[in-house]
Amino acid sequence: MTIFNLGSINADLVYRVPHLPGPGETLASAAFSRGLGGKGANMSVAAARAGSHLVHIGAVGEDGRWASDRLLEYGVDTRHIAVTAEATGHAIIAVDDAGENLIILHKGANWALSETEIALALEPAKASDTFLFQNETNAQRAGAEQASAKGLRIAYAAAPFDAGAVAEVLLLLDLLVLNEVEAAQLEEATGTPPHQLPVRDVVITLGSKGCRWINTDDGTSQDLPALPVKAVDTTGAGDTFTGYLVAGLDRGLPMAQALSQATRAAAIMVTRHGTADVIPDLKDVQDSLL
Ligand code: RIB
Repeated sequence: MTIFNLGSINADLVYRVPHLPGPGETLASAAFSRGLGGKGANMSVAAARAGSHLVHIGAVGEDGRWASDRLLEYGVDTRHIAVTAEATGHAIIAVDDAGENLIILHKGANWALSETEIALALEPAKASDTFLFQNETNAQRAGAEQASAKGLRIAYAAAPFDAGAVAEVLLLLDLLVLNEVEAAQLEEATGTPPHQLPVRDVVITLGSKGCRWINTDDGTSQDLPALPVKAVDTTGAGDTFTGYLVAGLDRGLPMAQALSQATRAAAIMVTRHGTADVIPDLKDVQDSLL
């Protein structure tokens, strides 16, 4: 089966700093690196490394052909990554000594996607496939509507979080992934608690405490623990979690097993510096069980 991921592609410009800068502060970085990132690209790499066939639907500028090439090298189907007149999106990321981060996003080509290109990408899609998206591109609702009309499972990672953006697509979703703070914000904005959302599966990530899966069909809720690890960089851990989760479900794993695999992948991810380039592969994740 195939996962169609409508997602962002960024150049991640990462600066290691002793602490996150405050307003007006000038800070020297201890190290700099440029890598492949974007929540969409990170999820695509995670899902491909988890063994799924992943078609990325996105856009870069002329300056971003390297990013598309790197996705291809990482096993992602890149035939539906358009090259636009807009420059490739980028993120300025500061990571401090405690592993916390601060991210400034420049959307660039991520907001120049065409609905026709999405339709073209989804042409071969079947009802057994999955459509994944996040809040870092334009055409989110149009993409989800097209995929829903074809009967695909619709999965949404509500990141970066915006209650309005979630509300716009809520009725189309089969799976919603968000963190604890975002779940509370969504409840405040919609007046609906997570277990009453019109989404069959709601997964709430709880950081070092693991995650909670709410099955709104039967009203059950299950908590899964995280692996105890020392975090050096949390950037991209949530994306790794979602990519692995969606790939596990795509490959037929029961939800609890897919969540457990996703939790382990995210735990490994926080022990590494970087984003898409360092997402663990399935062997790393399976070895973490030993
Ligand atoms: O979630 C991490 C990602 O957020 C980074 O790769 C960055 O590009 C931003 O999209």
